Amino acid sequence: MTIPTIIYGTAWKEDATEDLVLEALKTGFRAIDTANQRRHYNEAAVGKAVTKSAIPREQLFLQTKFTSLGGQDHRLPYDAHADHPTQVRQSFQSSLHHLQTTYIDSYLLHGPSTPVGLTAADWHVWKEMEKIQQEKRTHHLGISNVNLKQVQELYEKALVKPTFVQNRCYAQLGWDIEIREYCNKKSIIYQGFSLLTANSFVLPHVQHIAARVKKTTTQVIFRFAMQMGIVPLTGTTNPTHMKEDLALDFNLSNEEIAFMENIARE
Ligand SMILES: NC(=O)c1ccc[n+]([C@@H]2O[C@H](COP(=O)([O-])OP(=O)(O)OC[C@H]3O[C@@H](n4cnc5c(N)ncnc54)[C@H](OP(=O)(O)O)[C@@H]3O)[C@@H](O)[C@H]2O)c1
Repeated sequence: MTIPTIIYGTAWKEDATEDLVLEALKTGFRAIDTANQRRHYNEAAVGKAVTKSAIPREQLFLQTKFTSLGGQDHRLPYDAHADHPTQVRQSFQSSLHHLQTTYIDSYLLHGPSTPVGLTAADWHVWKEMEKIQQEKRTHHLGISNVNLKQVQELYEKALVKPTFVQNRCYAQLGWDIEIREYCNKKSIIYQGFSLLTANSFVLPHVQHIAARVKKTTTQVIFRFAMQMGIVPLTGTTNPTHMKEDLALDFNLSNEEIAFMENIARE
């Protein structure tokens, strides 16, 4: 499947995951984000929903993640004592099993193991992910929760470059402008999460725009993100919001975009 314009996220849904993912697929979402991290995601329930939907696999974009030990609870998808490449293999195999598929569209490293730079462990993980990509078992690779130096280091030294960066997108940081600009230069696609939850204070300030385009303020945020080249993630649990998040075929003016870009810049 081609690169999606919006992704349905499946974190924190626990027992409701299967029903919500099925609802999202029925509403029209075709890209799903999950992780083999039972602490925050129920990847097996995502797989059940995907299978139940009966949507042909090639019409779906399935994205999942490798999560290092530090991000997991006791429900590990790999042997805690195995080396990093083995953990990646075991986690990836388990993801295929959970998602009831033979390939992944996008496989992300959930995050570097430290806030500064990339460690030897991160590189061992990435190298194994590269092998999986070269075996054509995932179409794309990516990384999440990164700062500028980490993306730069990864891009410069990796054999298989990341197609995606997935980050929390704060309006106060110019909607992650430093990283987005770097991504643009390197043709890396930026996926943004917490667009609403990290920026709820923005909503009252875009009411006049919402009134002009006859949409909700949340739709204005997502449309703004898209026009900025961001692929938004939405994890809504509300069927009306699902429909709204797929009804983003309107345009914000250059002035409106410029106003929103700097709305909370520090
Ligand atoms: N890589 C990472 O480390 C990481 C971290 C966090 C998230 N993620 C991914 O990003 C996904 C989205 O997470 P998120 O943090 O952006 O927040 P989210 O879980 O999507 O939460 C959005 C919140 O905004 C509310 N909302 C109101 N109107 C909405 C609308 N029209 N559309 C959507 N939500 C609306 C939702 O309530 P209702 O449910 O009532 O609509 C919900 O409380 C996750 O499920 C996960 O896949 C990744």
